[in-house]
Amino acid sequence: MKITIIGSGYVGLTTGACFAEVGHEVMCVDNNEEKIKTLLAGDIPIYEPGLEELVVKNVASGRLKFTTNTGEGVSHGEVVFIAVPTPPQPDGSVDLRFIEKVAREIADVIEDYKVIVDKSTVPVKTGEKVAETISRYKPNVEFDVVSNPEFLREGCAVDDLLKPDRIVIGANSDRAMAVMQRVYEPFVAPVLATDINSAELIKHAANSFLALKISYINAVSVICEASGADVEQVAEGIGMDKRIGRHFLNAGLGYGGSCFPKDLKAFIAISEELGQPFNLLKEVETINADQLDRFIKKIRESLWVLDDKKIAVWGLAFKQNTDDLRESVAIRLIEQLVAEGANVVAYDPKAGENMRRTELGEKITVVDDPISATEQAEALIIATEWPEFQTVDFAKVKENLIAPLIFDGRNLLDPKSMKSHGFSYHGIGRGRS
Ligand code: UGA
Repeated sequence: MKITIIGSGYVGLTTGACFAEVGHEVMCVDNNEEKIKTLLAGDIPIYEPGLEELVVKNVASGRLKFTTNTGEGVSHGEVVFIAVPTPPQPDGSVDLRFIEKVAREIADVIEDYKVIVDKSTVPVKTGEKVAETISRYKPNVEFDVVSNPEFLREGCAVDDLLKPDRIVIGANSDRAMAVMQRVYEPFVAPVLATDINSAELIKHAANSFLALKISYINAVSVICEASGADVEQVAEGIGMDKRIGRHFLNAGLGYGGSCFPKDLKAFIAISEELGQPFNLLKEVETINADQLDRFIKKIRESLWVLDDKKIAVWGLAFKQNTDDLRESVAIRLIEQLVAEGANVVAYDPKAGENMRRTELGEKITVVDDPISATEQAEALIIATEWPEFQTVDFAKVKENLIAPLIFDGRNLLDPKSMKSHGFSYHGIGRGRS
């Protein structure tokens, strides 16, 4: 099928590359000329495992094309996906100006029946607004609007797209639903057909539930610390119940990234707009923020004053397998350490370069290997769950540190093994701290 994707950011680019991979003829549109030039040269502006190979292969086969011309893009596809940013406004609600602009641009050039698909994460009822906008600017043209939310995780986006748990298609017409079934025919995954509003809500409700699961286990971790229990064992025990499941029950510094913090705020704002405030989600946010405060308190309890102390931090990205620093808890942690006068030396397997380019990056030292970060440091903090931190030479780390102090904000290391190495180990919710 001929498919157009408007917006070649994280979601648009991965979706376009995967659609091309399964045999569709895809044209990705972006108004950023620099970005399109980079992509045409086979360079991927983000680190996402497997994406570069997919883009290069499908550009070479001619199934993946890029353009800055929206008109050309819209004429190309019988299905036009909208995958533009939906950033938060200061009050937490979603800024829909890019979606509205694309709707107007589509109206400008649409000539015959097309299915317009909203892939961006949007508040419920946005589909209705997109349809109204297109009809207002181009009254006599046939089209349908569909909601098809994405469920990609950064770091495994290609896999999530090619082998999804489910595909949600929200459409209010059989004609549009039939077109969408053809788009997803090459994928082996259950398809859930819903109305548009429900599909839009599924996305916000799913992300909020995952964030709630994380905050739930983090709240349990506080009780574990107060009572001498181990949150890892508790998570294992409750996760073995199939109705609960073990996924997203990893206690730690809390969730970050470009999705959960923003989507929770948006869902709260939507609920308030509808006159039905979803207060449970406010508590989820509070627990998430408290995790970092509690962790920093723990560091202060050991080091007393942080001023003028060298502290090693492993992990800058908001999670493993990405170079994305957006809303990373590691960054909030470093901001706090720097504010208290600490000299931070940081290492991240992929996000070091991005960090150096930030204002905060100029106030700390970013090194290229984990061991050298620990030289003459007073403590080691683990802030991101990169699995490679588990296999570092801890004998060398111990030799390097002034005092053998580890604060593991992601419960990545085995406390017993750390103790046998001679470390004083502080995890999250792992017995009395
Ligand atoms: C999330 C969802 O998982 C995707 O399904 C969704 O499509 C995506 O948002 C989106 O809306 O685009 P992502 O933000 O890439 O994906 O990352 P996650 O793997 O969900 O992790 C989010 C945060 O939660 C990270 O900071 C991670 O460290 C934290 N986390 C995750 C925990 O603290 N504990 C856990 O058990 C799991």
